[in-house]
Amino acid sequence: MRAVQIARYGDTPTVHDVEQPFPGPGEVLVRVTGAATNPLDLKITAGYMHDFFPVQFPYTLGTDVSGTITALGDTVHGWNVGDPVVARLDPSDGGAYAEFAVVPADQLVHAPTSIPLFLAAGAATAAATAWQAITEIADIHAGQRVLIHAGAGGVGSFALQMARTLHAHVITTASGPGLHIAHDLGADEVIDHTSGPFGSQLADIDVVIDTVGGAVEEQSLDVLRHGGLLVAVPMPPDTDRASARGMRAEFLFHASDPQRLATVIGMLDGDIRVLLDQTLDLDEAPQALQYLAAGHAKGKVILIPQTP
Ligand SMILES: NC(=O)c1ccc[n+]([C@@H]2O[C@H](COP(=O)([O-])OP(=O)(O)OC[C@H]3O[C@@H](n4cnc5c(N)ncnc54)[C@H](OP(=O)(O)O)[C@@H]3O)[C@@H](O)[C@H]2O)c1
Repeated sequence: MRAVQIARYGDTPTVHDVEQPFPGPGEVLVRVTGAATNPLDLKITAGYMHDFFPVQFPYTLGTDVSGTITALGDTVHGWNVGDPVVARLDPSDGGAYAEFAVVPADQLVHAPTSIPLFLAAGAATAAATAWQAITEIADIHAGQRVLIHAGAGGVGSFALQMARTLHAHVITTASGPGLHIAHDLGADEVIDHTSGPFGSQLADIDVVIDTVGGAVEEQSLDVLRHGGLLVAVPMPPDTDRASARGMRAEFLFHASDPQRLATVIGMLDGDIRVLLDQTLDLDEAPQALQYLAAGHAKGKVILIPQTP
C-alpha cells in the first residue's frame, strides 16, 4: 500500500510502497477514506515535538483518519468489518497518511451519518481541540464576549461555530476570503487582521482563544477585561505577563480522547460544519503540507487515497 513517510526529522515527506499493516490484539484495520492534515504533522516532521511525541522511523504521518473497518484484531468487541469510523491516532504512532491504518479499538468512534465519510476526518484534531478550549479550559457561556483568532482556520472555524451554539458573542479575525467565510460560519463580528493591530478596535473581552501566537498573543492581552482568560493553542503563553496585568493565560495541550471525539463527531450531524479548504490525493501529500505551512488554509486540507 502507499504511505507518506519520513526517514528522519527534517525529511521531506514522501510517498512509499510499504507492507500493509496488520491489526494486533485490541486493534482494527481501517481502509482510509480521509486523512486530515494538521500543523502538528509539520512540527513532528521538523522534530519540534520530539519531547512530547517521540516517533520511530520510518514514520508514517497523520493523526486524523476516517474510513471503514476491514479487519479486526483479537479481543476486539463491539466493532464490525464494514463499520464507518473516525479516530485520532496517537501522534507518536501516526499512520493516517496511508491507504490502510491500524487503529486501537478504544480510540474508534462511529462516523457521522449525514456528511461524507472523508470529511469527518477533518474534525479529529481541530474540532476536538476547539471543544477542549471552549468547554474544558474556558467554560464559555451565553453572553460572554469571546475573541477567536483565525476564524477561517482549522481550529478557529470549529471554535467559532461552537462558541455561537453556546450563545456567546463571537468576534473573530480573518483576511481576504476568510472574512466572508467567518461571517458565513456565524461570527457576530469579523476583524481583518491585515488592516492593523486589532487592539484599538476591541475591549472588554472575556475570553480569547488564540490559535496564532506571537504578536497576536501579546495584543490579545490589550483587549481582555480584568480577570479575563487567554487560551493559548499554538504554544505555551507568557503567564507572568498575563498575571501582571490581572489576567489568566492557559496553554491547551491536546491529547486524544475518544469520549471528547465522540461528542464533536456527533455535532457534525447537527449544527457544526467541517470547513473544507480542499482535498488532495495521498500522492499529493507533499504539496498539501507545503500549502499548510504557508499558514493561510481556510479550514481543513484532507488527503484522499484514490485506491486503484
Ligand atoms: N496545543 C495543541 O494541542 C494544539 C492542538 C491543535 C492545534 N494546535 C496549533 O494551533 C495552531 C492553529 O492550528 P490550525 O489547525 O487552526 O492552523 P491552520 O488551519 O493552518 O491556520 C491557518 C489560518 O490561520 C490564519 N492566520 C494566520 N495568521 C493570522 C493572524 N495574524 N491573525 C489571524 N489569523 C491568522 C490564516 O488566515 P489568513 O489567511 O487570513 O492569514 C488561516 O486561515 C497551530 O500552530 C497548531 O499547531 C495546537
